[in-house]
Amino acid sequence: MLRIAKLSLVALSSIALLATKAVADELEHVAGEVPPQNTETKAPTGGPAGATTAAVAPVLSLGNYKTEALLIALAIGLVANYFHGSRKNLSLSKIWEKPISEVLHANFSLVGDGKQVFERDSAADMLFYASGRRHCKFAQGHMVLKARQDAIALLNDLAANNQERLEIEITLNDDEFSGFVFAAVPQKRSKAVGRDRYDISTLAKVVSSDKVAPKVVLFSENGDVTSQMLESGLSDILADERSLLEEIYVSDTPTEKPESHEFKREKKLTAVIRLPEPTDESIKKVREILEFVFYLVDYISETITLRPEAVRKLTKARDEAFKEFARVAEQEKQDALAKTLAEKRRIELEEVAKMAPEQRRKWEEKDRKKQLKKEQSKRVRRVR
Ligand SMILES: *[C@@H]1O[C@H](CO)[C@@H](O)[C@H](O)[C@H]1NC(C)=O
Ligand SMILES: *[C@@H]1O[C@H](CO)[C@@H](O)[C@H](O)[C@H]1NC(C)=O
Repeated sequence: MLRIAKLSLVALSSIALLATKAVADELEHVAGEVPPQNTETKAPTGGPAGATTAAVAPVLSLGNYKTEALLIALAIGLVANYFHGSRKNLSLSKIWEKPISEVLHANFSLVGDGKQVFERDSAADMLFYASGRRHCKFAQGHMVLKARQDAIALLNDLAANNQERLEIEITLNDDEFSGFVFAAVPQKRSKAVGRDRYDISTLAKVVSSDKVAPKVVLFSENGDVTSQMLESGLSDILADERSLLEEIYVSDTPTEKPESHEFKREKKLTAVIRLPEPTDESIKKVREILEFVFYLVDYISETITLRPEAVRKLTKARDEAFKEFARVAEQEKQDALAKTLAEKRRIELEEVAKMAPEQRRKWEEKDRKKQLKKEQSKRVRRVR
């Protein structure tokens, strides 16, 4: 976000500079006596916004056609670029739709709405959804393309080396394996991931392995998990420097710190696949990676077997991480119980108030004994 703001500033000031230059030329032309150094100092000192208004105001008053022409050309350029960008987006999404749809159809009984795979709200949003497969509840994904229509965002993409990519998230069946946190990400993302993802920062740590490329950073919480995940064939993919699998995560814990103890525990497999320039070869590679991701769904549920002590460690780590939440949950349960008991007592006392004196005396006698007994049993429990 900051980078975008910076780049926008740069772009704005260069537009302002251009406009100022044009005005200067024109002024020189009309008046013939404006010293050029005046305009040289104008652009860099004023803020971008100030420079723009300073530049535009004299333009209009002087009826400066050159600058107007420049601005109109710029506007036409932006519009044309927008249409070009969305056409390119659309054609790219059509190209990638075919292999993605084939792999989804091979694995899921219901893909998209039954007719169409990508839900295309606009050239910018391409989502897909599939369900009906063993070991998982559903899969959803989206394609992230470059914001081609937007010169500033495009510059930003180039600067950040943002790739076009396919992100897919599969919600796995709950009870088929003991939950763990594992991730493989490129080095340049590892700092952000290790800091921003709640599951990774609380449960996993960076682990080293000579089975993956040096530019890949692994996060895991258990040696059994690490070795068995890598044995799935993942290490071959991660060892390849040019692999299209950018990021992969397996997690049973939310990515953001839950706000209450009633948070949803879901097991998820998430993958980010880079989409290169589409060629027969690259399309085949994307397909293979996607197939591998679905194969992992089976592998995690069917093949990964952790030793009992590993499972105990995972459970303990979760108990520890959610200790505070467990305490809050217990407190809430106690409070609710106390409230129902108090309410019951209140109703009972109301009934007693309506009783005849003799009856009431009997009730009070009984109640005293009851309370006494309760006190005693409490004391006994405390002593134990
Ligand atoms: C192309 O897609 C990206 C995201 O996938 C989006 O940010 C951009 O706005 C789209 N371009 C157009 C012209 O719709
Ligand atoms: C998933 O698709 C691949 C081919 O793309 C196929 O080999 C595999 O058997 C499928 N798995 C399931 C569970 O349908």
